[in-house]
Amino acid sequence: MVKMDKANVNELLQAQAHVWNHIFNFINSMSLKCAVDLGIPDVIHNHGKPMTVTELVAALPTLDLTKAGNIYRLMRILVHSGFFGVEEDGYVLTNTSRLLLKDDPLSLTPFVESMLDPMLTKPWDFLSVWFQNNDRTPFDTAHGKAFWEYGFHDPKLGTLFNQGLATDSRLVTSFLIDKCKGMFEGLNSLVDVGGSTGTVCKAIADAFPHLECTVLDSPQVVAGLQDCGNLKYVGGNMLEEVPPADAALIKWVLHDWNDDECVKILKQCKKAISGGKDGGKVIIIDIVLKKNGTGDDEDSNLTETQLGFDMVAMALLGGKEREEEEWAKLFFSAGFSDYKITHVIDMRSVIEVYP
Ligand SMILES: C[S@@+](CC[C@H](N)C(=O)[O-])C[C@H]1O[C@@H](n2cnc3c(N)ncnc32)[C@H](O)[C@@H]1O
Repeated sequence: MVKMDKANVNELLQAQAHVWNHIFNFINSMSLKCAVDLGIPDVIHNHGKPMTVTELVAALPTLDLTKAGNIYRLMRILVHSGFFGVEEDGYVLTNTSRLLLKDDPLSLTPFVESMLDPMLTKPWDFLSVWFQNNDRTPFDTAHGKAFWEYGFHDPKLGTLFNQGLATDSRLVTSFLIDKCKGMFEGLNSLVDVGGSTGTVCKAIADAFPHLECTVLDSPQVVAGLQDCGNLKYVGGNMLEEVPPADAALIKWVLHDWNDDECVKILKQCKKAISGGKDGGKVIIIDIVLKKNGTGDDEDSNLTETQLGFDMVAMALLGGKEREEEEWAKLFFSAGFSDYKITHVIDMRSVIEVYP
């Protein structure tokens, strides 16, 4: 038998708990998804005061009553992970579950539903297989096609994915318009490269009515979207051509692509802004990782989110989150001469890149 002193036993038990917690981490994600599927945040919100478990059970119309006792267990783990609080023996929302209300303009519900759909969780089962084959991503291994080619088997899921992006865009755009006004000064036109259904561009076009704004995205994404005022939509392939403008905005796109593809996209952006005032500029909104993923204790939560996104980029798209030196290498390879990283929005930064 292995002999251990008390200190060793304590360390060993802590190490064991650490492994258990990582084995069970997916249960947190799936419990969260379950609460969203059942509409629990909205039910508690609509109740208007702390809601007892009995009241919650009674307010879930589709619940099989033989499972009613298990709602307490689901809520217990979600209270533990900070999604709900308990006051006067009843559940209340926290700041986090307020972001899960379906009608909140900043609702993260579409992200929960799309990122935790089996289509996007299946590739994780293939991570180690992928490390040993020559597929581009675990997504390709799981589904036999690349993410952007595969599309969404269920149009509802595609809509949720785009809604998730739109929600994030609302938050980021309010920051951009409020804190980075100066960045748009002197520009007469802007193209939003990979701009999805145009949430960012629409808000910029409204805030700066003199600016001619163009959203470039794949033809199937912009099909049927109506030009309006100083905003228009163009379907195309950003690896081949970007419509001309004084500035190209590229938000949350480059992390989807590998270095060679990013250089191609950036070269197209450079060509597009070549007629712009003072040579134009590219405005990138994306993560700038700290070296080796290290972060202060204070921002270790943000670092964990950034590293999570890096793994998502690897598993689903063949892209990556980048450290500053990696960004600089891309810019110089694409022929740009300088860049400036200024603002930090949540876990992302604003990078201005100059020809
Ligand atoms: C992660 S989303 C970011 C969307 C938007 N910029 C935002 O932040 O919400 C990446 C976008 O790139 C678009 N995209 C992918 N491949 C593309 C291509 N070859 N040409 C143009 N857009 C593309 C996708 O349709 C998607 O809207």
